[in-house]
Amino acid sequence: MAITRRHVICETAALPDGKGESFEVAGRRVAVFNVDGEFFALEDRCPHADAPLADGYVHRREKCVACPWHGAEFDLRTGKVQCPPACEDIAAYPAGVDAGKVWVEI
Ligand code: FES
Repeated sequence: MAITRRHVICETAALPDGKGESFEVAGRRVAVFNVDGEFFALEDRCPHADAPLADGYVHRREKCVACPWHGAEFDLRTGKVQCPPACEDIAAYPAGVDAGKVWVEI
């Protein structure tokens, strides 16, 4: 069984609402998103051609992010791919806020 650990990555104020930001967490590139004060973390690599998903467009209502290069969409909660051209799911990590700081569990 893999051991997970909670990593504090930044102050909540460092992540503007509706945007993503890339972080190096436990040796992995992780895209962290703020959607109306709720935080989500995904693997920061589109499986289609390796685009950084932290630069993608966030769809608030659908809680998904569109890849900045060719538009594949991924569910922010699960990492499941929603539309082509990507056809593989990506990793989603638990994320949240504690005492004004954003954490990610990996
Ligand atoms: S790199 Fe993401 S859809 Fe092409």
